[in-house]
Amino acid sequence: MSTLQDFVTTLTIPSDQVQSLDIPLMPEGEAYDMGHAEDGAPLIDPRIFDSREFARNPYPYYRILRDHYPVYHDQLHNCYYVTRYEDITACYFDDEGFNTIPKGSSSGVLGNTQLELSGIEHRRRRNLYGQHLVGRALDNRIPAIRRLAGEMIDAWDEPGEKNYVIDSPGVRTIELGRAFANEFPIRVVCEVLGFPAQARGDFYYWYNSMMSGLGGSKTHRKGLEARQHLEDYVSGLVEARRREPTYLYDEAGDPVGKDIISKLCETRIDGDFLSTEEITSNIALVVGGGGETTRGAILNMWSLLLSHPEQFDAVANADSLWDAAFHETLRHSTPIGGQPRHNTYEVTLHGVTIPAGSLINMVDFSANHDERVFAEPEQFNLFRADLYTGKLLRSGYSKDGRCSHMAFGVGPHLCPGAWISHQEAVEGSRVLLARLGKPRLNRERMPMHPHTGELPPIGLTSRRDLWLDVDRP
Ligand code: HEM
Repeated sequence: MSTLQDFVTTLTIPSDQVQSLDIPLMPEGEAYDMGHAEDGAPLIDPRIFDSREFARNPYPYYRILRDHYPVYHDQLHNCYYVTRYEDITACYFDDEGFNTIPKGSSSGVLGNTQLELSGIEHRRRRNLYGQHLVGRALDNRIPAIRRLAGEMIDAWDEPGEKNYVIDSPGVRTIELGRAFANEFPIRVVCEVLGFPAQARGDFYYWYNSMMSGLGGSKTHRKGLEARQHLEDYVSGLVEARRREPTYLYDEAGDPVGKDIISKLCETRIDGDFLSTEEITSNIALVVGGGGETTRGAILNMWSLLLSHPEQFDAVANADSLWDAAFHETLRHSTPIGGQPRHNTYEVTLHGVTIPAGSLINMVDFSANHDERVFAEPEQFNLFRADLYTGKLLRSGYSKDGRCSHMAFGVGPHLCPGAWISHQEAVEGSRVLLARLGKPRLNRERMPMHPHTGELPPIGLTSRRDLWLDVDRP
């Protein structure tokens, strides 16, 4: 499990103390048989959650949970799983009854962030920069998103050895992760926040170190150091921006508004300016929340489209379909599996009583594959009639037989970066497609299934590498 989920806890808690269960890799869509109860219901052995099989092929197990244990008490990992779309939606809206992670869980690496807040305190913090990532402010960022995508593609032709862009007669072979998706979202966030272009290299290093530092392992110290460096750097920027704000520019070079750091520098709460610590934590969270997630969304989307060539051709012929492709990707293979919550009071749900203060995993992966909402949920189909693909709403959408997916959550903590990540993925892909021509999967370099010739399932973690071939004049 990756990204935001790692900020706080993992959905499947890996534990080397747990005696392993020897689970074979099952055909996609089929669950390993863990036995049956007297009434015939399939049983779940919680050791499955630590297995390779589950990481590769989680959906058949989520189906068992949804159908037979919509609230599952995992006594091995000491937590609960809520897996139906409707239940998860209700819990996300009840910010008081199901609060977000306990304070301090981001283990110092990100600082005191809004993820750990609830209620008014949360709303106030969230609005500080959330307003700069939506509406007109967001429209103003689109030229920069397009330019940054173009610059990354131009860099493929710069002199120097690159093991992710390989030219041979008539064909160029590209690994889209290293060539584009890994760094593109960080570059966008870096620019939108207002980091100078020269700081990009450091910024990418701090980001990577902070992300691996969240694992709570040997890398934790590196993560803390990176955060300290980021904070030192941001302090200097904040001082400079308090004296002289900096701006973002449109394609014609005209200023379209201040960058986010300049905006935060002039923001007051109860008459006081935000402290550097507050600004840094906001930045750390925006960076942490927006990098790995959007990277995964871009690679998953391209991977799904290229393995469904008729849908790829449809998008290539009708530019407006990118929006549906993005949302269907997030429904089918979201980069974030779910969110942890803690219940403030004892609750009973589907006959299971959950003591106050328990860890409850809201499994967004499962909500997005709930056949009560999405027909044939395992099929990637950007034309599906039951998915809402319009403008994302904090309230979610459930009308006329269509529902929004759960990849950005819903309610008070709905991802404030949802709109910008949408633009990054869609605008970035438009620029990519215009430059790539007719890309196709490079089947020699991808780990294709030897019998079916298909790509392996995306599973719990997003695609990391995606090798493409394009024609070269
Ligand atoms: C495809 C890309 C993305 C996905 C799938 C995603 C997913 C999510 C989800 C599920 C949450 C909800 C957390 C909860 O309910 O507790 C969240 C929160 C958050 N996301 Fe994103 N995110 C993405 C991109 C971004 C981007 C680009 C940014 C920043 C520019 C960002 C910043 C944040 C922040 C700051 C929060 C915390 C919100 C709060 O607690 O109020 N995310 N994200």
